[in-house]
Amino acid sequence: MTKKTTDIKQADNPSRRRFFKKLWGWIALAAGVELAGLSIPFISSGRKKQKKKETGTFTGIVPASDLPPGSVFPYQSGRLYVCHLNDGGFLAVSITCTHLGCSVEWNEKKKEFICPCHHSMFSINGEVENPPATRALDIYPLKIEGGMVKVNLSKPIERKHFNKSQETHA
Ligand code: FES
Repeated sequence: MTKKTTDIKQADNPSRRRFFKKLWGWIALAAGVELAGLSIPFISSGRKKQKKKETGTFTGIVPASDLPPGSVFPYQSGRLYVCHLNDGGFLAVSITCTHLGCSVEWNEKKKEFICPCHHSMFSINGEVENPPATRALDIYPLKIEGGMVKVNLSKPIERKHFNKSQETHA
């Protein structure tokens, strides 16, 4: 038997054909899974955007004129503080410590948020002043409408640090 005849016989081998058929099946399945993996986040991000629009209601918290610069207003039911910074900007800062989730308290004397659990400290704009926390306090979308500070309580925004673009001015 020549080598050519052996090759033809091997190609016609039914078990070999079954093997290749299965192999193509697995490749097609893997491609399908990959495609689904790419398209599901795309579809769900569209849904999230839609949901954000639906839940984007702002709640009136406090008249802006009631908060002099450098002051903090605790809004207990929303678990946040409305902060009026010295430069005139407003921020809605989450009460939840970014270390392990305890509730930070405003210390009027020190002008800092202090976490009672492991003593992380945050400035009035939520920036970390003292570890173990490594990330600024979350903020909520805020706007001032008709002289009233309004906050969207639907979802806090995570941030690494404070920057001026996060402020809202009256
Ligand atoms: S939970 Fe706030 S410092 Fe640890």
